[in-house]
Amino acid sequence: MSTSSRPASTTTSGAAPAESFAAAAARSAALEDQITTDPSRFRVLTGDRPTGALHLGHYFGTLANRVRLQHAGVEVLLVIADYQVITDRDSVGNLSGAVLELVADYLAAGIDPATATIFAHSAVPALNQLMLPFLSLVTDAELRRNPTVKAEADAASGRALSGLLLTYPVHQAADILFCHANLVPVGRDQLPHVEATRSIARRFNDRYAAGASVFPEPDALLTSAPVLLGTDGAKMSKSRGNAIELCATEDGTARLVRRAKTDAERTITYDPEHRPAVANLLLIAALCTGGDPSQIADFLGDAGAGALKALVTESVNEHLRPLRQRRAELVADPSYLLDVLRAGNARAIEVADSTLECVRHVMDMTY
Ligand code: TRP
Repeated sequence: MSTSSRPASTTTSGAAPAESFAAAAARSAALEDQITTDPSRFRVLTGDRPTGALHLGHYFGTLANRVRLQHAGVEVLLVIADYQVITDRDSVGNLSGAVLELVADYLAAGIDPATATIFAHSAVPALNQLMLPFLSLVTDAELRRNPTVKAEADAASGRALSGLLLTYPVHQAADILFCHANLVPVGRDQLPHVEATRSIARRFNDRYAAGASVFPEPDALLTSAPVLLGTDGAKMSKSRGNAIELCATEDGTARLVRRAKTDAERTITYDPEHRPAVANLLLIAALCTGGDPSQIADFLGDAGAGALKALVTESVNEHLRPLRQRRAELVADPSYLLDVLRAGNARAIEVADSTLECVRHVMDMTY
């Protein structure tokens, strides 16, 4: 959840090696300090694929963190990665509808369109054109061994890999570099992407700009996102249909939680290792109430899974009530959502045009 991760990128094969993880964690702690003292130095780019409504996992994993950074005074850009939807599927359903739903989720969660820029890939031609010089800087072997691409290829179980899927880390580098973002909030599984982006920036500067810093190397800001499980006990994900969506109704939430997996033991204890399903429900209640999962377990004691589920439903509904209220108002006014997106697109276009102009200039391609 990230960490705005693609579903298959969370497998262990996509994880960063321990030493680079430790280094990134130390670096992230230092960055957090700098964010507190001088937020205006930072520009964050992150985003999501418009493949369906966001859920509690996204909310506690990434959305809340983006809103936190925005409130800290960091500039936030959010890419709605519509071109990434066609990396691995033939039919995309109602794409423009999914894009506007995502805008609604962002705004309802507290992203402020007056300071943040929300834009769609496909609306920003110059961003996409950066992909061409960037592609010249990576080899096909590098693309094939990218851990996330590999994980996706495995998950595609025998289906041929599209050229766009193979090259999407390069596209993602263009997302980050077109606006000179210097901070990319990611989960551990997405670290290789930031690494790939850094090496593309480095190589561009070396090969095409005689060492000038046309593209500064961005830093990963590791987010310690809690991994939430869905109602079936597997990781909460859009594609598994096990998620509590932000836009679910209160009754719908109650139904989902009621059918969530638990175990046969009556006494409620917080034991993530041996009782993952029960621990997950306790964690959700704790995240929603700002409490502590062990204390909630003590409070429930022998009350059983029914009482636990009632408490989780209540906490989720209570916590999300204002967000859902705002979201309902927002989706009732699609023209407003479209206005927000168009304003974001216009701003991204301006930034991307100026970056591409600079790139053309250093590459001696201005005619
Ligand atoms: N890959 C991300 C996802 O699956 C979305 C995304 C696109 C992204 N471009 C990005 C995330 C750049 C971080 C940085 O949701």
